[in-house]
Amino acid sequence: MKGAIHTAQRHDSALKHVTGQALYIDDMPEPAGTLHAALVLSPIAHGRLRKVAVPPSPGVVAVLGPNDIPGKNDVAPVGSDEPLFATDRVFYAGQPLALVVGTTLDAARHAADRATIEIDAEPAILDIEAALAAKAYVQAPQTVLRGDPDAALKVAPHRLSAEFAVGGQEHFYLEGQIGFALPGEDGDMVVHSSTQHPTEVQHICARLLGCDFNRVTAVVRRLGGGFGGKESNASWVAGAAALAAHHTGRPVKLRLPREVDMISTGKRHPFLYRYTVGFDDEGRVLALDAMLAADAGWSLDLTPGVMARALTHTDNAYWIPHFRAVGYACRTNKQSNTAFRGFGGPQGVVVMEDALDRIAHHLGRDPVELRALNFYNDAGNETPYGQTVEGNHLPRLWAELKRDADLACRRAEIDAFNKTSPVLKRGLGLFPLKFGISFNIPHMNQAGALVHVYTDGSIRVNHGGTEMGQGLFIKVAQVVAEVFKVDIDRIRPSATSTAEVPNTSPTAASTGSDLNGWAAFAAANTIKQRMIAFAAEHFGADVSEIEFADNTVRIAPSGASRPGSNQVVSFNELAKLCYMGRVSLSSTGYYKTPKVHWDPASMKGRPFFYFSFGAAAAEVAIDTLTGESRVLRADLVQDCGTSLNPAIDLGQIEGAFVQGQGWFTCEELWWDQQGRLRTVGPSTYKIPGSRDAPAIFSVKMLDNAANPEATIFRSKAVGEPPLMLATAVWTALKDAISAVGDGRTAVRLDAPATPERVLAAVATLKKQ
Ligand code: MTE
Ligand code: MOS
Repeated sequence: MKGAIHTAQRHDSALKHVTGQALYIDDMPEPAGTLHAALVLSPIAHGRLRKVAVPPSPGVVAVLGPNDIPGKNDVAPVGSDEPLFATDRVFYAGQPLALVVGTTLDAARHAADRATIEIDAEPAILDIEAALAAKAYVQAPQTVLRGDPDAALKVAPHRLSAEFAVGGQEHFYLEGQIGFALPGEDGDMVVHSSTQHPTEVQHICARLLGCDFNRVTAVVRRLGGGFGGKESNASWVAGAAALAAHHTGRPVKLRLPREVDMISTGKRHPFLYRYTVGFDDEGRVLALDAMLAADAGWSLDLTPGVMARALTHTDNAYWIPHFRAVGYACRTNKQSNTAFRGFGGPQGVVVMEDALDRIAHHLGRDPVELRALNFYNDAGNETPYGQTVEGNHLPRLWAELKRDADLACRRAEIDAFNKTSPVLKRGLGLFPLKFGISFNIPHMNQAGALVHVYTDGSIRVNHGGTEMGQGLFIKVAQVVAEVFKVDIDRIRPSATSTAEVPNTSPTAASTGSDLNGWAAFAAANTIKQRMIAFAAEHFGADVSEIEFADNTVRIAPSGASRPGSNQVVSFNELAKLCYMGRVSLSSTGYYKTPKVHWDPASMKGRPFFYFSFGAAAAEVAIDTLTGESRVLRADLVQDCGTSLNPAIDLGQIEGAFVQGQGWFTCEELWWDQQGRLRTVGPSTYKIPGSRDAPAIFSVKMLDNAANPEATIFRSKAVGEPPLMLATAVWTALKDAISAVGDGRTAVRLDAPATPERVLAAVATLKKQ
């Protein structure tokens, strides 16, 4: 049997991706009469909107604004404070004001660019500090608290306080946001959307159009990358297309050019941190009091979830008896920040890494041993939010990493190098990871699937998850192949559609294969049990005597002497026989994650079904005259449970790490003093390229790591966690910079650690 579970299988679309044959929405043949749309955006960050006018021009069919929305002018994924088109006020430079619909893309964009916009500008809040000073928040501050951090800090033998910041990050999916709406009869609307959340597209289109959910079908075969950027933002793009299709009665496509995409949609949340940490002479952390302030942008969007994940990941791998983390979600006049791979986790885990490096410097201790000293252990295994850390792989990962990366030896080499190298300095950074898997809104942890077996034995699989390059479809196909014991090429994954599997959760929080894998398993298994029952009756055997193996079905292989025994039919033949015997070969399947619960008021519970663990070591070199840096080597060990597909998982680990590396080093968003984003394309916004990937890149999965929880085939989620392993790069950069001084002084290094920031940190250290 080809394509069994746990074997390396290439992505089902791999060849199509590299040959350009994979069909994305913009590649779909357009029906005659298709119209194209373009957005009119606010050039001003904050103000009172007086007028938006688009001059009549050839090829323009319609100009739509807030008054043209038959339903509700609201595209908020949670809450209800997000209009599709601004009404009387604008809240960020880039906010959609109107939609121009034209017979050609050029006609629509040309007219949109010539719109007259009158806005009375008002003072804007453009950064976290200003928002904190004004107490401007999108939600009330959230706190995770355990013990008495104030008292514990007071009596701690040592205390350190520090402040630092990390920047945002543009998703830079290769396929921009796109929605293509096709109107049908009686107000039906089919919307092709590059979305991670088809059900939200359905809901938001229905909300805008003022119709029942059953009128709208959201469809997506694949996304050209999402990374969280198409969890909520895809919905309003699809909604605008649907609105235009509703008005014109014709198919309408809205595809955002890169610049418009970057200006109008949300990104990773930048964070500012202030913390005090208390510890003993050995470096054991006794208490942490941390403030995490996020730039939420102008609206709520998914900020509550992002902040909750940041706060539940501030502990990262460490047992901290007295703990307080307070999260301020600052309202600024910027893009509304949103999901981005890690969903606040990356912004949470950096706190303790900064603290531990400072403690190591302060006490003159080895930061590697110091981290291990503070790991969760049997004596301290409860997180500050009340979940017990089970199946802790941290000590094992740490040991393997130290061995594989040859740490002791390389530390000595790097120190020796730095002694004799006045300009170039090297640094080594290590990072352990604990990352919680599940949506921390318990009801979202559910999924459905729909499997059909046709009479030729070929199988079609549908489920609520979306394919964005992460390999979800091949993993789910492997699960179904495993149930029926047939070759993987008998399984055809089909486009995600709200008409096939309804009421779905977004493909997010790395839960895609955990949720949809089990749902598809359940659907396939229901059909299999029916086939078994039928075969038993048909061939005169007991149900326990029907065996599926290698594309065939064996009947009573051990009942040698009985009539009907020892027969073999192909899977295809049995499918045909079942049909003739009037057995349903189609089934839905459903799964809900067990054990999870969460109280958002007290910030306590078990938000995660399980934890995924990882460890990384990175070696960097910096040029102390230019501030440039390189990652010379990275060693990663990631816990994937028993991997469903090691080829896909390795790709996820490598890709996530390099994406994280980009966040920590080169990807810098820059707004001018009026709050206009000026990094709007690859020329000004630098994502890592192939040459930025570590020159030596050793990636492996932890072996013998079956998930103790009953996940699908004991696998673990992999989509997001390895992004955080890139924290080791940031740590390594700080280590390299500190080699400029006496090696005992900690430096502040905000992310992204661009050449300017590295240089500034070097300069600060030289002055000391
Ligand atoms: N991998 C690719 N190639 N493209 C993507 O857009 N998104 C990431 C991750 N890996 C992404 C990716 C994010 S943010 C998440 S949450 C997971 O994939 C979602 O898919 P999964 O739950 O099936 O892992
Ligand atoms: Mo991923 S940020 O949860 O889409």
